[in-house]
Amino acid sequence: MNTVTLTINGQQVTANEGTTVLEAARSLGIDIPTLCAYDELEPAGVCRLCMVEIKQGKKTRLVTSCVYPVENGLEVQTETDRVNQNRRMLLELLLPVAPSGPINALAKRYGVEKSRFELDGPKEAPTNCSLCGLCVRYCEQVKGEFVVGFTGRGVNRKVALVAGKGDECAFCRQCYSICNSGRFVEMAEVFPDQP
Ligand code: FES
Repeated sequence: MNTVTLTINGQQVTANEGTTVLEAARSLGIDIPTLCAYDELEPAGVCRLCMVEIKQGKKTRLVTSCVYPVENGLEVQTETDRVNQNRRMLLELLLPVAPSGPINALAKRYGVEKSRFELDGPKEAPTNCSLCGLCVRYCEQVKGEFVVGFTGRGVNRKVALVAGKGDECAFCRQCYSICNSGRFVEMAEVFPDQP
């Protein structure tokens, strides 16, 4: 297999072609925050918290490290002001929805004490779901099942059980332990099998 050499936070690393910047960073022990990455799953690039700044020639830009492939000569910085400013904004958006667990811990890590955003209306309760989709992808890619899915669009988007398949979920529950909400996934909603 061909390899490429790049630098991450000033440290040189050699990685197999086709691996991601996130994987290369982790091989150096560099901690990049993630919500939707999980070793057993194909990366999906949903949460954007893993963004890093890369330099190619004179240009710098932000990329999503869990889906961005390593390149020869790439210079990567994982904690620049620009990166962390974007992470803080993402965490501010997530905090009202999922104020506990890992999201709260990440908010503290990046100095987000309070969100400028609020849920719509006083009756709307936090769902504690970041919509990272780990449970949906785990069910499909690891279990080979399609019991958990998304329903709704925009602000109404939710994770739910596919109608008639809840029994399988009750016996499995393996996705619960990878849920980012910090508590068991609550999937009381049922949506029809047909779109
Ligand atoms: S971990 Fe990369 S986008 Fe979520």
